[in-house]
Amino acid sequence: MDLSILKKQQARFVVGLMSGTSSDGIDAALVRIKGTGSKIVIKLISHRHFPYAPNFRIRLLNEHMTAREACILNFELGERFAEAVLAMMEEAQKEGVSVDFIASHGHTVAHLPPPHNEKPGTMQIGEAAVIAERTGRLVVSDFRTRDMAAGGQGAPLIPYADWLLFRKLDRKVACLNIGGIANFTVVTPNFEDIIAFDTGPGNMAIDGAVRLLTRGMKEMDKDGAAAAKGKVIEEFKEFLLSHRYFAKVPPKSAGREEFGAEVYLRDALAARRNHSFEDLVATVTDAVATSIVNAFNRFIRPEHEPQYVIVGGGGAMNLTLMRLLRRGLPGIQVFTSDQFGIPHSAREAIAFAILGNETLFGTPANVPQATGASHSVVLGKITPP
Ligand SMILES: Nc1ncnc2c1ncn2[C@@H]1O[C@H](COP(=O)(O)OP(=O)(O)O)[C@@H](O)[C@H]1O
Ligand SMILES: [Mg+2]
Repeated sequence: MDLSILKKQQARFVVGLMSGTSSDGIDAALVRIKGTGSKIVIKLISHRHFPYAPNFRIRLLNEHMTAREACILNFELGERFAEAVLAMMEEAQKEGVSVDFIASHGHTVAHLPPPHNEKPGTMQIGEAAVIAERTGRLVVSDFRTRDMAAGGQGAPLIPYADWLLFRKLDRKVACLNIGGIANFTVVTPNFEDIIAFDTGPGNMAIDGAVRLLTRGMKEMDKDGAAAAKGKVIEEFKEFLLSHRYFAKVPPKSAGREEFGAEVYLRDALAARRNHSFEDLVATVTDAVATSIVNAFNRFIRPEHEPQYVIVGGGGAMNLTLMRLLRRGLPGIQVFTSDQFGIPHSAREAIAFAILGNETLFGTPANVPQATGASHSVVLGKITPP
């Protein structure tokens, strides 16, 4: 068994893999990483999105998934992750480099963080053994469990990477990732001052509304076009913002358990069938933007005045959502991470490449004040090549 990678002191080439709560597909990033901790040097070489077929997405989104189906999907997903890695290995070859190892977040099928869940747990699938078998590479996976075992919520884990990617001695910035769930990291010069938490729903609510209202014919509000045409239904917006998650104070993390379409939207939309598709989507989009702005004003502004907000995740493509965010945050410049050299769709895959590298170095990479863990821990599990 070749574990020489653990001792490799030169730059390592890593493929980071992410399948987010939107269940839209796999984001893969080929990253060159040298060193560990605050001395790390990170360079993105290439990235790619591997979309899931619509019927596969429906299986991942099934809110009544059985243990048997999760068991089968664990292996099926492992195959898809492996295919993505093999494609990235080809890209690496074109660049004249060889992939050293893989860092795979997997796909979350259940996330029940403490203290709001009496019986906590989290489960990411996409079998690492399958990825290792197909690619012949070491795989780091299962990043969330160790933080949870240490009393944390296992999320958000992106803050450590955000800090390495965006920190500067003379500024504070707020990194906003709008995936299925939206989260903020306030990147401060000092690691100990980082604030990070999930604000609540991101694309999950918008996708969910579109899917329910079109009976699955459409999967997203492309570019926020429908929302741009609609008018906000104030009473519905108020209802959406009355979810008890928004009142909780950080550390806090959210998932499909709170904001999946079935639980958050199905009945609420059914009761408002007299309204147009555009008005309903406009209202959900406005509620998402407002929840992010409210979280910024309530939990970030009192302590920090970030110079700007850097947006990543698929939500950066929703022009209406971005317009509402800019309007809700007057005086603060809102950029996409692309403007800082980090493609919005690759940000999380890059982050897990960084976390996987830290696993191999034995460097703790949770941010205890963000997850609520009792101490710093080395994240991830290692599957040999
Ligand atoms: N052109 C677009 N217009 C509007 N929304 C988009 C666009 N492209 C992607 N998205 C949204 O981004 C989501 C995927 O974002 P992503 O960051 O991958 O989330 P996750 O990490 O939860 O998978 C899609 O489901 C969709 O809602
Ligand atoms: Mg995604």
